[in-house]
Amino acid sequence: MSSEIIEKIQALKQQRNAVILAHNYQPGEIQDIADYTGDSLGLSVQAAQTDADVIVFCGVLFMAETAAILSPEKTVLLPEIEAGCPMADMITAQQLKELKDEHPDALVICYVNSTAEVKALSDYCCTSGNALEPVQTLPKDREIIFVPDKNLGGFIIEQTGIEMILWPGYCSTHVRMQPEDVQAARAKYPDAKLLAHPECNPDVRVLADELLSTGGMLKFAKTSDMNEFIIATENGIIHSLKKQNPEKQFYSVTEKAICPNMKKISLEKVAWALEDMQYQITVPEPICTEARRSLDRMLAVIPK
Ligand code: 13P
Ligand code: SF4
Repeated sequence: MSSEIIEKIQALKQQRNAVILAHNYQPGEIQDIADYTGDSLGLSVQAAQTDADVIVFCGVLFMAETAAILSPEKTVLLPEIEAGCPMADMITAQQLKELKDEHPDALVICYVNSTAEVKALSDYCCTSGNALEPVQTLPKDREIIFVPDKNLGGFIIEQTGIEMILWPGYCSTHVRMQPEDVQAARAKYPDAKLLAHPECNPDVRVLADELLSTGGMLKFAKTSDMNEFIIATENGIIHSLKKQNPEKQFYSVTEKAICPNMKKISLEKVAWALEDMQYQITVPEPICTEARRSLDRMLAVIPK
């Protein structure tokens, strides 16, 4: 059955001149049919550079919106319109305007996990793959507001020593990982290296050997001479880690680390998306142009 759907997707993809982009948290079968699988930064680069006419974005709404802002002349399809990101919805444009009014001289950095409206009100945008760079280039005498993730923001403060005003947003999947889960995994796999995402709470971050974006974890696992890894991020990444490193072992910190929104995409929905050209994601002007400024600054910083 699934091979029939995959054939159908391949045929429709050719017919529409489409490219399939999938985030590392997508179900394994979606990662397997994608033309490119990666982290938010890598996917944004692909979306900006592709010469396909249609981008099928297997991820969540803010990612498809980012693709639409970076490639406004392309058709961007999100196979499931209900696939949102709770963290991105934790700050509205109105709330950010009010925060800026309280700090009129502050510069604003937003995590890419934010709405297009919030990006339009921000000076800089970053992903977890290049979170440390923007803050280090800003004038020392200006206040900095970071939205919406208090955990990624806390990680930036810990790493750079630069203070920021943090919005109290968080990822509802990453905060489910508890220090007890980490300690239990450490006890079970004493030789494993612990890789955690900076979206984890501080009491989990402090236990990690490395704090990395999902793309950073894939790179680290490939180049490391270690053979065992405990992974503290959404469990979908274990699929790519195992596929790229069949000789190494990867253990999830907890089975609870599932993002329900990332799992809303299925092969059937990808086929329907290409068949019916739905759901088209567009970002109206002037939000598109204003959000593009902060996204262009994000793409200007691609760590090696
Ligand atoms: P990265 O893949 O960019 O590390 O992002 C993690 C994430 O939570 C995306 O929603
Ligand atoms: Fe949003 Fe967290 Fe899911 Fe990423 S893993 S899409 S931040 S809820």
